[in-house]
Amino acid sequence: MVDSADPTPPPAPSMGRKFLFFGPRRRQGDTAVEEEKPKEEPKIPPASFFALFRFATRGEILLDILGLIAAAAGGAASPVMSIFFGKLTQGFVAFTLTLAEAQAGSAEAAQRLPIAAANFRHASGQSATYLTILGLGVFVTTYVYMHIWVVTAELSGKRIRERYLAAVLRQDPAFFDTVGAGEIVTRVQTDTHLVQQGISEKVALSLFFVSGFISGFVIAFARSWRLAIVLMTMLPFMSLVGALLGKFMARFTELSLKHVAEGGTLAEEAISSIRTTQAFGTQEKLAALYEDFIRKARTVDVKAATAQGLGIGIFYFAIFASYGLAFSYGTTLINRGEGTYTQFVTIADAGTVVTVFMAILTGTASLVVLAPEMQAIVLAMGAAGKLFQTIDRVPLIDSSDPSGLKPTPVLGSGFLELEHVTFAYPSRSDIPVLKDISITFPAGKTTALVGASGSGKSTIIALAERFYDPAVLG
Ligand SMILES: Nc1ncnc2c1ncn2[C@@H]1O[C@H](COP(=O)(O)OP(=O)(O)OP(=O)(O)O)[C@@H](O)[C@H]1O
Ligand SMILES: [Mg+2]
Repeated sequence: MVDSADPTPPPAPSMGRKFLFFGPRRRQGDTAVEEEKPKEEPKIPPASFFALFRFATRGEILLDILGLIAAAAGGAASPVMSIFFGKLTQGFVAFTLTLAEAQAGSAEAAQRLPIAAANFRHASGQSATYLTILGLGVFVTTYVYMHIWVVTAELSGKRIRERYLAAVLRQDPAFFDTVGAGEIVTRVQTDTHLVQQGISEKVALSLFFVSGFISGFVIAFARSWRLAIVLMTMLPFMSLVGALLGKFMARFTELSLKHVAEGGTLAEEAISSIRTTQAFGTQEKLAALYEDFIRKARTVDVKAATAQGLGIGIFYFAIFASYGLAFSYGTTLINRGEGTYTQFVTIADAGTVVTVFMAILTGTASLVVLAPEMQAIVLAMGAAGKLFQTIDRVPLIDSSDPSGLKPTPVLGSGFLELEHVTFAYPSRSDIPVLKDISITFPAGKTTALVGASGSGKSTIIALAERFYDPAVLG
């Protein structure tokens, strides 16, 4: 810590700081503390989506891309099911029709019956096979993207935690003056978890749903654009209800938790100072205050329950109403002969109605469930912004920076000197703690610092340990 009589060269002027120095006097340009001032805690901007993956290795990114391809394929495959369902329906209809005609006494139909039965069996078997294959495909793709994204997110999350911890340990005490230890713990626990959530299967799932939405609508429009357009009317309705419901629920949950937490704090304070509470007989008053918070939470919860009930009710109403719409307009189309004609029968196609209906429904549902997944990603970006700010923060006094002055160790002959040191804590930079103080601590002697409480004794020690750098007040 102490310089020998032989002076070490002064620090590079580019460092632009004022030093508490030991041994011979030197002066430094002093731009000091200004950069260090707390930045009025502005809202930390969220990290970009791609920045979330900054600690992923190249191999992991490649795997992630593979997972995304699987997710897109799996998502697109789901609504394809509606095609086979439509075919299956059509097969049933066609066969039942022939059967009904035969039973009604049509000789021609009776003659056609064995062929119709064979056709029916063949077509159904085919559809069943395709559906099974489709199911297997969705199984495999889902397994692949889930596995890949969960594992890579775990790895990235671990790295973010490590980097964050390393960054925190690297910070100077001035950092902790403004942040506080509690916040660090919260960030390690909550924010890293949020980030990990946002880079895990949610990303792949989002793509899965987007792909399902596109595929569903493409299939529907390809089959019967008229019916598709009519059924599309439920899309804004359902997504609006879904979005509003999510928004309200999030707001109510947050509010309710806030009230419960406030009540909890009050209870904790009352119980931890139970003697005072008892001595002043304030139990009833405090209990009433506590009840106030609980009542507020209850009001919010009731509102949340109402909103949820209403929302989900409207949601299902929309689905059932669209059933009605599909069958009513489908019938109209069939009666007008707008449907597709199949090889079996020459009336309009029930299968098409089923296909379009199911495809639109699957597509719309994909869009609705997409919202919470996206929400997780947005939350992750917000949390990552805070984490990355700390990870990227280079402290003014950087403990991991190998450059700088390295005093040669001396035994017995050195001394420790403060020379015209002025200092204010960065967290309260307008209040000077030390004003132009000069002290010399000779080696091998005991020097006592005496002064009133708050006069700056511990501050001098902190400066000697270089927890802070002295500053010139502007
Ligand atoms: N981390 C900090 N951030 C902002 N102000 C601080 C900080 N630490 C101390 N202070 C303020 O600096 C002044 C000097 O504090 P310091 O702890 O050096 O006094 P002290 O002489 O050691 O007092 P005591 O005899 O009570 O230990 C006080 O006004 C104190 O409020
Ligand atoms: Mg002290």
